Amino acid sequence: MTEFEMIAKTFQGLEEVLAKELKELGANEVAVGNRMVSFRGDKALMYKANFHLRTAIRILVPFLHFRAKSADEVYEICRKVEWEKYMLPGNSFAVDSVVYSEDFRHSKFVAYRVKDAIADYFREKHGKRPNVSVANPDLIFHIHISHDDCSLSLDSSGESLHKRGYRQETMEAPLNEVLAAGMILISGWDGKSDFVDPMCGSGTIPIEAALIARNMAPGLFRSRFAFEKWKDFDRDLFESIYNDDSGERRFEFSIRGYDKDPKAILTARRNAKAAGLLDMISFEVRDFKDFQPVNERTVMITNPPYGERLSNENLLGLYEMIGERLKHCFVGGEGWIISYRYECFDKIGLKPSAKIPLFNGALPCELRKYEIFDGRYDSFKRGEGSLKKENLPVRRGTTLRHKARLAEKAGDDRPFKKTEGKSFRKTEDRPFRKSEDKSFRKSEGKPFRKASEGGRQFGKTEGRFSRKESGRPMPKKGPKSGNKKQQ
Ligand SMILES: C[S@@+](CC[C@H](N)C(=O)[O-])C[C@H]1O[C@@H](n2cnc3c(N)ncnc32)[C@H](O)[C@@H]1O
Repeated sequence: MTEFEMIAKTFQGLEEVLAKELKELGANEVAVGNRMVSFRGDKALMYKANFHLRTAIRILVPFLHFRAKSADEVYEICRKVEWEKYMLPGNSFAVDSVVYSEDFRHSKFVAYRVKDAIADYFREKHGKRPNVSVANPDLIFHIHISHDDCSLSLDSSGESLHKRGYRQETMEAPLNEVLAAGMILISGWDGKSDFVDPMCGSGTIPIEAALIARNMAPGLFRSRFAFEKWKDFDRDLFESIYNDDSGERRFEFSIRGYDKDPKAILTARRNAKAAGLLDMISFEVRDFKDFQPVNERTVMITNPPYGERLSNENLLGLYEMIGERLKHCFVGGEGWIISYRYECFDKIGLKPSAKIPLFNGALPCELRKYEIFDGRYDSFKRGEGSLKKENLPVRRGTTLRHKARLAEKAGDDRPFKKTEGKSFRKTEDRPFRKSEDKSFRKSEGKPFRKASEGGRQFGKTEGRFSRKESGRPMPKKGPKSGNKKQQ
């Protein structure tokens, strides 16, 4: 199959983990950029990228690169595109835009001009203009402008890939699923030891951990991907990818989620049930202060309240307690904590062995790793310690800026705000760094399981796919799925 260029978008700090996922999936020419990874692959890889990647938020397929310095220039160039290649006059469409340029003050205006160009093209050539649909378009185009570099892409994902489809309800500040999976992948936990999140809220971290442990695709629960409406959609190819569960594996350890709030535990259970993973995760109401020692090699990953959107009368006391419990309950294990205030981290009172800058939405956070030894740290470092440096993302140029933001935040309670009145940021100036390791693994060539052999059913209903799998509850569709707020 022909290979083409693709862009996987992600959150700042997750680029290296995403690049690793892409190489494992069989992508070629994987190159890390800022909040994105570019790569090449064929149509099957595009389907797999949407279905299997845990740390991508969308997969774009660029089809035109050009230079322009104004929205009118963009319009003129877009009028000349042969749009029938991508859509029919009867299709509805939407245009997204991301602009980092002083020449283009209003990103929305650029999107309008691209829409005008498409509509005028079809009216002139076919006497009919396609409908613009915001809610449920057949095709989503994306224009990206950095200075005068413009790229037009097709969005193959549609709704952000963090919307896995298993979330039934949310608590006040759920962690984004992509960030939760990214934190677990950074930690190197691969299902070969016990796992616990003692402040699990709606259960995002334990659920993503269970998917990783079983090597189950995060796209299993989604009701649709945008590429399913494309002219060249290959139903059989996607069906074979969807039904291939040959990579799934058994899990023989435990995954536990606790929270002091009974409502959170109820929600976590509902979400895990929707993912068909309730039998793999034990959720219980428990205050972290009452936590008991765990098995050696247990990995703890948690997202405590930051005090940004959750009120907590004694936030610093909470972090002091977290440090105390870590020291007493996790001997021989490791704890990973995401937070964004230096003074909170200070209260933990333990020396982190890794600090990884990550953005949680607009909040410049850090994921810190704590290894708990019963002996001395020095002797551990000299000996056969388990510091798994290979999994840690390479520190990028943004680290200092990130630190400055973090420092600026200490003692400042207001949420971080983007500079108002500016429609551009210079974050994407750097040329993409080519990944050094160009090696890639071919995707598994094992035979696919047919639905009749116990694979997932994948049939057509009223023009859309309906997916059923025996024994696995399907996610409910409707307005309840999806995140309210992300902390
Ligand atoms: C930021 S939320 C976690 C969100 C979660 N990662 C999710 O995706 O829904 C923090 C959670 O910590 C819980 N929490 C706060 N103090 C706690 C304590 N002492 N013991 C256990 N849970 C606690 C809160 O009830 C809240 O659900």
